[in-house]
Amino acid sequence: MSSYNEQQKPKVTTRRLMEMKQRGEKIACLTAYDYTVARLVDEAGVDLILVGDSASNVMAGNATTLPITLDEMITYAKGVTKGVTRALTVVDLPFGTYQGNSKEALASAIRVMKESGAEAVKLEGGEEIRESIERILTAGIPVMGHLGLTPQSINKFGTYSVRAKEEAEANKLKKDAKLLDDLGCFAIVLEKIPAKLAKEISESVSVPVIGIGAGGGTDGQILVFQDMMGMNNEFSPKFLRRYGNLASIITEGVGHYVKDVKDRDFPNENEQY
Ligand code: KIV
Repeated sequence: MSSYNEQQKPKVTTRRLMEMKQRGEKIACLTAYDYTVARLVDEAGVDLILVGDSASNVMAGNATTLPITLDEMITYAKGVTKGVTRALTVVDLPFGTYQGNSKEALASAIRVMKESGAEAVKLEGGEEIRESIERILTAGIPVMGHLGLTPQSINKFGTYSVRAKEEAEANKLKKDAKLLDDLGCFAIVLEKIPAKLAKEISESVSVPVIGIGAGGGTDGQILVFQDMMGMNNEFSPKFLRRYGNLASIITEGVGHYVKDVKDRDFPNENEQY
């Protein structure tokens, strides 16, 4: 049987994502931080691959996304872009590389585009980072927004719980979503907010809204690959659906390998030169 990509090859662009929203086709997105996973995820038909700063947690073992650097993000992104042929590749600008001023934001975005070969950047925030978004867009670099739970602001929130449950925060979120749409962002991520609010925003903005923990009313969904494939079973939020149990496949496989080496069963005569 041919793969999804063999049947349906056209490269995903920001314009194609907009067309998908317009015809009501849901957009499937996942994170990837390396060449091997990016190839598999792309081959399986994901529309957008995010080199998320969640790499700080998942790849580097940090407690938050704050420590990851632009150099580290570019290194991860370089591997990903080499593995992708169809999906649109987006890279997170890490904490501290775009909030200070718009010149620095543009310099960070240009580095990502030039050095990694990715096709867009993602920034967390609304009105507060307006100038940075405008400046990056002026240089012809597509920007994806990110509102709701914005993990780079964890020290301000103090918790990873659901955002915008109160009216004031919900109203600010709606205003920010409209702003990002008006500025010309090509898509907006909404993270961990009430499903009703996410649906309302998705229906009110022109660009695709991609949800994570934001219910089924958005134009698409995104999950972290390692979470949805069951590589990190300690992380179990309500919104996460697991599509595999790679943690047990890997530990069982490695356990067998260790036993075979210890028992002198591996390598056998057919596995040597
Ligand atoms: O860094 C990341 O993985 C993200 C997604 C959760 C949207 O920003």
